[in-house]
Amino acid sequence: MYDVYAVREDFPVLKEVVYLDSTATTQTPVPAVEAMVEYFYRYAGNHGRGAHRLARETTNRYEDARETVARFLNSDPSKTVFTKNTTEGINLVANSYPWEAGDHIVTTMLEHHSNLLPWLRLQKKGVKVTIVSPDREGIIDPQIIENALTESTKLIAVTHVSNVFGSVQDISRILKLARKNGVKVLIDGAQSAGHMPVDLKALGCDFFATAGHKGLLGPQGTGVLYIKEPEMLDSASVGGGTVSEVSGGEYTLEPSPACFESGTPNIPGVIGLGRAVEYVEKIGVSEIEKHEAELSLQAAKRLSELDHVEVYGPENRAGIVPFNVTGLHAHDVALILDQTKKICVRSGHHCAIPITRFLEVESTVRASFALYNTQEEVDVLVNAVNALKALVS
Ligand SMILES: Cc1ncc(COP(=O)(O)O)c(C=O)c1O
Repeated sequence: MYDVYAVREDFPVLKEVVYLDSTATTQTPVPAVEAMVEYFYRYAGNHGRGAHRLARETTNRYEDARETVARFLNSDPSKTVFTKNTTEGINLVANSYPWEAGDHIVTTMLEHHSNLLPWLRLQKKGVKVTIVSPDREGIIDPQIIENALTESTKLIAVTHVSNVFGSVQDISRILKLARKNGVKVLIDGAQSAGHMPVDLKALGCDFFATAGHKGLLGPQGTGVLYIKEPEMLDSASVGGGTVSEVSGGEYTLEPSPACFESGTPNIPGVIGLGRAVEYVEKIGVSEIEKHEAELSLQAAKRLSELDHVEVYGPENRAGIVPFNVTGLHAHDVALILDQTKKICVRSGHHCAIPITRFLEVESTVRASFALYNTQEEVDVLVNAVNALKALVS
């Protein structure tokens, strides 16, 4: 039986606020914070750069975190690159894939700017980009993606879960059609990893980028990029830690993942991330998925029963519920919810301007749920939004 109240004990800030902004960033559990504190107090050193005991301990703990993350996503440590966030992972692919003028990429209007701008920027190199549209609930029909493919399509870049709607895309079908057409696939997993089971080997995608600071419960400044065939990418950023030999004006890159992690990485952050992922593993990601889906289903249903509220997105969704209150700007709603009930929600375009425009609104309020939220918090949210009626009628 899932015990949300026991889970909450590991997130002290939840005693202070109603935190409904986990899509922006989640809270980090005490054991992961303690692992970072332990690093600073007991063994801080650099990674892969020393023979002394602190450097060895640091290197071992950092690489243990990689093993943990790889196991959790059913990947391989050599294909699991630590980044500073999802955005850096996607840019790494965009900047180090051997594009040629005339190559074609298919992406969608649903994307966060992080999975859109890196592809649009490639247009300067003569790469063509097609952006396909979802339906009004934020679902992409895989057939529309297939229809957009051409002889020159090299990549489909698509989000797993929309950060605006909470809609879960049929990535298995998208991967199937991509394989049939010999096209590579990058999945933006910023809103899926840690919120629902992700098995990278079973999926067979070419790239999967995610954040450490969202569903994986790690600290900010951490992210993960899975690269199925690391040899297909050049290293976008080189320097310390990326090479095995430099002589005569030439250098030899280390194999993956070292060749993709230039300079001193976020060592405490990665160690905290490893511990956070162990925490998620222990609770069980399927339990988390069920819990979050139930909360968002309830929240969406009850908010949509209010006359002055419009809720967006499909009925079956991840833990993300966007809405607007008629007659109030989303930022005002967010501010009032904070000031009256200490409810933390996000408001704005959520770094996804095209899809927000597609909804013909300027912004939305977004309540998002994580493993530590409760039914009582849904009640607090619904009652507070209900009370806004007095301001608009
Ligand atoms: C779907 C999606 N992609 C990408 C990002 C960017 O993530 P990061 O801040 O880790 O770079 C986000 C952030 O909210 C997101 O929701």
